Amino acid sequence: MDILKYSGRTDEWKGSAALLLLREEDCAALPDLPGAEAVRELAERKDFLGRKGTSLRVPLFGAGIRNLYLMGLGKAEDCSAALVRDTLAWGLRLAGRQRSESVLVPLDHLKDAFKDSGLSLSAVLGEAAGLCSYVFDKYKEKKEDEHEPFALKEVVSCSLEEEEARQGQTFAEAQIAARALANEPGCAISPAGLAESAVALAGELGLDCEVWDEERLKQERMGALLAVGSGSVNPPRLIHLTWKPGGTAKKKIVLVGKGITFDSGGLNIKPSSFMTTMKGDKSGACAVIGILQGAAKLGLDVEVHGLLAAAENMPSGSSYRPDDIVRARNGKTIEIDNTDAEGRLVLADALCLASELKPDVIIDMATLTGACSVALGKWRAGLFTRDDALADALLSSSRRRGEAFWRMPAEDEHIEESLKSPFADMVNSGPRYGGAIFATIFLSRFVEKGIPWAHLDIAGVDFMDKEWGVYSRGASGFGVRTCLDYLKGLSA
Ligand code: BES
Ligand code: MN
Ligand code: ZN
Repeated sequence: MDILKYSGRTDEWKGSAALLLLREEDCAALPDLPGAEAVRELAERKDFLGRKGTSLRVPLFGAGIRNLYLMGLGKAEDCSAALVRDTLAWGLRLAGRQRSESVLVPLDHLKDAFKDSGLSLSAVLGEAAGLCSYVFDKYKEKKEDEHEPFALKEVVSCSLEEEEARQGQTFAEAQIAARALANEPGCAISPAGLAESAVALAGELGLDCEVWDEERLKQERMGALLAVGSGSVNPPRLIHLTWKPGGTAKKKIVLVGKGITFDSGGLNIKPSSFMTTMKGDKSGACAVIGILQGAAKLGLDVEVHGLLAAAENMPSGSSYRPDDIVRARNGKTIEIDNTDAEGRLVLADALCLASELKPDVIIDMATLTGACSVALGKWRAGLFTRDDALADALLSSSRRRGEAFWRMPAEDEHIEESLKSPFADMVNSGPRYGGAIFATIFLSRFVEKGIPWAHLDIAGVDFMDKEWGVYSRGASGFGVRTCLDYLKGLSA
């Protein structure tokens, strides 16, 4: 998708559609915009009043713009960057599916539309334009039975800040890279396949990439990751991606991603309705890959390490079992209470490794617990950290990029008690209540004390049942833009 600055001279733009985002107040006193006549009349007739969630396609006759897409933003006082981003993506998707190849997007009248984010309109447009066209349809022969082929190639705007728009697009591309990987089914991406994707990306962008196979994992004492992977014919991998900036890095950050390429539950097998969408259990790892792509493309002045703990959780004669006792890289032993609590096990070894890199901050991303999505719903992810400064920084990035995170407790003395095992240093699963907090406390035992650490539980938000705003159906890439924004903040 090209995003171009438009001079305003009609002979320089051959497109045929304009996308107008309007607040209710805009409809009453319309600024000088393409199609203003029509909008004024529609407002007088009360056919379009800028109400939030409403939209109207207005065919115009004569030369120039053939279709005007009116999208309501609602009341000016309720307008936010997130709403503008979602509405832009929705409108561009609509126009693109109705054969528009080039869309004009006036922004001038929205200059003060939101002050909540510290993000420019151009950056938001870049994100929306980058995100609107993605659908996971590579396995469909007849792509047009759900919607017409997507025609949009170009977005133009008079008041565009081009560098901002380009950065917004880079954020979007990072998220789409994560979605594209996470959408691949278990039969297409094994742990080794995920490693191949990481190696390919590293080659393209000049990142370092090291992959540990099962032999190496044994030598490296990654007993928890090996246990989880033992039931599958597709052996586990530890993938280490590194982005190093040219000059001296301002900070060193390690991102850890849960990369379960399919989670059947293992011997504690999931009921069938819980097993579908579990190809998405690698979403944390895919997000980390996307973030590294973004960091490299933006040329951030931050050293970023991505550690992906990849395994397939399957039941078989070689599976790890309930009652097994496994030893993690830091020497601690774990009694397996439930083989479906596998994410925390693969993360345990990866967090040990992350700590050994002596970074300034560790962030892990994982579709870790159903309990987290029960608590927060499918549109909000959990942020667990004991570090207030890190929480504030991540929450402000989350607001800026319109990905909702909610801070959750990262300690609890009563839940801590339930980690006790009679036979090992801890158990891997506990009582039903507070399951997401239990998992966080479990993880904390593998992070070296003193290193600020945040755990992002993206279970539930990783997979969208329907298309909405910037999201297409399927993998969401949730968290990619938030974390990339955080890294960009450290680099500034
Ligand atoms: N991958 C799941 C969590 C999950 C659930 C992700 C729903 C996305 C949507 C995880 O490995 C899991 O199975 N967790 C168990 C933990 C339990 C056995 C302690 C859960 O949440 O039920
Ligand atoms: Mn599981
Ligand atoms: Zn899982």
